[in-house]
Amino acid sequence: MADRRQVLRWGTLAAGAPLVASAAPAVASARPARRTLVVGHRGASGYRPEHTLAAYELAARMGADYIEPDLVSTKDRVLVARHEPEIGGTTDVSARPEFASRRRTVVIDGVSTTGWFTHDFTLAELKTLRAVERIPQLRPHNTLYDGLFEVPTLTEVLQLRARLSRELGRDIGVFPETKHPTYFRGLGLDLETPLVRALRRHGLDRPGAKVFVQSFEAVNLRGLRRDHRLRVPLVFLTGGSGGPFGDPRTYAEYLTPAGLRELSGYVDALGPEKNQVVARNPDGTLGEPTGLVGRAHGAGLQVIPYTFRAENQFLPADYRVGTEAAGYGRALDEQIVFLRAGVDGLFTDQPDVGVLARELARV
Ligand code: G3P
Ligand code: CA
Repeated sequence: MADRRQVLRWGTLAAGAPLVASAAPAVASARPARRTLVVGHRGASGYRPEHTLAAYELAARMGADYIEPDLVSTKDRVLVARHEPEIGGTTDVSARPEFASRRRTVVIDGVSTTGWFTHDFTLAELKTLRAVERIPQLRPHNTLYDGLFEVPTLTEVLQLRARLSRELGRDIGVFPETKHPTYFRGLGLDLETPLVRALRRHGLDRPGAKVFVQSFEAVNLRGLRRDHRLRVPLVFLTGGSGGPFGDPRTYAEYLTPAGLRELSGYVDALGPEKNQVVARNPDGTLGEPTGLVGRAHGAGLQVIPYTFRAENQFLPADYRVGTEAAGYGRALDEQIVFLRAGVDGLFTDQPDVGVLARELARV
């Protein structure tokens, strides 16, 4: 149970965040106690526009073990940190008349999408843009920083990681995700080659390096392991429905005991959508653990679910406080339930909340 005095002593919550309101139900841990990982999802994206160096730096300073760049390619084959190739929602490109003619419609993984795309821009062009907050209606405080920060390259993220590791006296990990790898390969812009090259250039493709590489596509993870001979742990991300693009198998099929056994031949961890770990009831309240943690551990796979966010909008109905979608709810209690269900880490937009939840859960 979270203790109010502990919360006040550690004092890592952002201003305005509510303290824990009730005890989280204890759930039997599937594994012996071990330190779980806090991954700063898109940086500390609850407090700064996502995928900016400022967001990553704040995540590290808040105590995140890892920072998480999602990776896409520019036209000239440079990996940059964006959640998707379309940049109209996270940069000021729509206000730049010089790029108005670049707006177009493309089909990404079968979905028609209109906007501006990283693969239509050189790095030099992309560097003239500035990041903006993706969800200003939920995170108006983040709009304070609109227009200040560039779109970072993977190289810049790795340089930041190294600098912060030296300054903070601990190894800051990096958790890169290849976004839409089949789509980019179809454009002649494969993501794997420059990713592996960058990791090796920074001395990070070695046992013990604090790196996990993730993807929603199993095929490119297999290629990273078998063709590129990448040595760092790999994470297969799963959604609650559907399956990887271009893959006849669904995520549900990958999560059967046979599917997990096969995955364990080339990946090290699962990154499930959090409802796949602790289910939501039909009324939106938090349900019971699904058993996925135990099954995955049985196959030798770690489990690192996404995405924990403090705002009511993203919380189970019974963990909300008040009626404002942007208000903070009982995020600590929610995360404690997952930590006590035996997860090996969690992705969170508010790394300070994740660090505190880990302390309170004593895992
Ligand atoms: O990589 C974990 C999580 O980030 C996956 O979802 O869409 O936020 O990249 P997404
Ligand atoms: Ca991601």
